[in-house]
Amino acid sequence: MNTEAQSSATSAASKVTTYEAKAYSARGPSSGLAPDTIRRRVPTARDVQIQVLYCGICHSDLHQARDEWRKVMPTVYPCVPGHEIVGRAVKVGSAVSKIKVGELVAVGCMVDSCRTCSACREGVEQFCEGPATFTYNGPDKHIGGVTFGGYSESVVVDQDFVLKVSESLDPAGAAPLVCAGITTYSPLRYWNVRHGHKVGVVGLGGLGHMGVKFARAFGARVVVFTTSPSKARDALRLGAHEVVVSTNSAEMQQHAGSFDFILDTVSAAHDLNAYLNLLKRDGTMTLVGAPEDASAIDSFSLLFGRRRLTGSIIGGIRETQEMLDFCAEHSITADVEVIPASKIDEAYERLLAGDVRYRFVIDMASLHGARASAPRTGAPRG
Ligand SMILES: NC(=O)c1ccc[n+]([C@@H]2O[C@H](COP(=O)([O-])OP(=O)(O)OC[C@H]3O[C@@H](n4cnc5c(N)ncnc54)[C@H](OP(=O)(O)O)[C@@H]3O)[C@@H](O)[C@H]2O)c1
Ligand SMILES: [Zn+2]
Ligand SMILES: [Zn+2]
Repeated sequence: MNTEAQSSATSAASKVTTYEAKAYSARGPSSGLAPDTIRRRVPTARDVQIQVLYCGICHSDLHQARDEWRKVMPTVYPCVPGHEIVGRAVKVGSAVSKIKVGELVAVGCMVDSCRTCSACREGVEQFCEGPATFTYNGPDKHIGGVTFGGYSESVVVDQDFVLKVSESLDPAGAAPLVCAGITTYSPLRYWNVRHGHKVGVVGLGGLGHMGVKFARAFGARVVVFTTSPSKARDALRLGAHEVVVSTNSAEMQQHAGSFDFILDTVSAAHDLNAYLNLLKRDGTMTLVGAPEDASAIDSFSLLFGRRRLTGSIIGGIRETQEMLDFCAEHSITADVEVIPASKIDEAYERLLAGDVRYRFVIDMASLHGARASAPRTGAPRG
């Protein structure tokens, strides 16, 4: 896999030995994704080096690669996205006790945190005041520059941020669990979704389809809201009891004031008030979608019925492992379409068209033929 051509790179903090790894990167907001070569640190005492088998394509990868979050988290180029990583541990440092060479492991959206703030002490590292180091586009404390994600043949991660994956799970279907999975599992757990609850899931994409699976597994009555009538049959197969085409206002109105909880996974600005009005008294709607543009809130949608509007971001390491173990116990994985890395740009366009059934996952074996000098194929966008 890796060329293992080790050399030295100097960071502000220290001199670290690095090796070359093949990857796919974006060079700019409209460049598309193309083969590249990046440097990874040779594992230090606490690190695990992972051969990446599969990496899911999250809509966040698209937002970041195209610099759509420039107001909050501007993209540093080249950018190697990917935070739904499943692979094999191929090397471990001398102080690694949690992971053994050969184990099936996963890395999600974080690769480090401060370990000392109240969030880290409580195991909710996603809220680290440090803040947490995200898997890509975060400051790389070891070799400088920014972190590079899982669109790569290998990653090197501190053992505390490496998760164990049951061999009983299909590794391609397990990859999306560490972002799409935990991002939906965590708020459903936090708001104690259970038998007797009526739960709405808005948007049937990568996150949405996992939300349906978990809400159903937790015993709720599940209603999917989609803008794509063609997804209705799949929604029922995935576990929904009912499907509402959200562009049909009469169908929406039939559910007014009836939901205990709604999980909104939509990746673009849309009318949130239409969903808030479907909540019961004291009902909760949680946003996990992170669109580029803001959506307006009408106060009346909240104050009638003392409704709550909340947000949630991924989950802590402890809860992510709990979710992976729950998935192993209940045979839950994502429904995936496995693609070669050369089709990432096409997959991004299909995400934007809502044409995802229900997560694209890159087979990293496809990187072996990819040459960093290959011409870039991404069509320029305005
Ligand atoms: N909070 C977190 O921790 C976290 C973690 C991961 C991702 N995210 C964010 O969550 C969002 C969803 O990610 P994803 O990977 O699930 O994306 P995705 O697979 O592209 O799914 C998004 C779905 O939203 C619906 N949708 C898209 N545009 C819409 C529009 N204009 N109006 C109404 N519905 C629309 C579509 O579903 P239908 O066809 O069913 O309508 C689409 O399939 C992204 O913004 C992503 O960045 C947040
Ligand atoms: Zn994600
Ligand atoms: Zn912290």
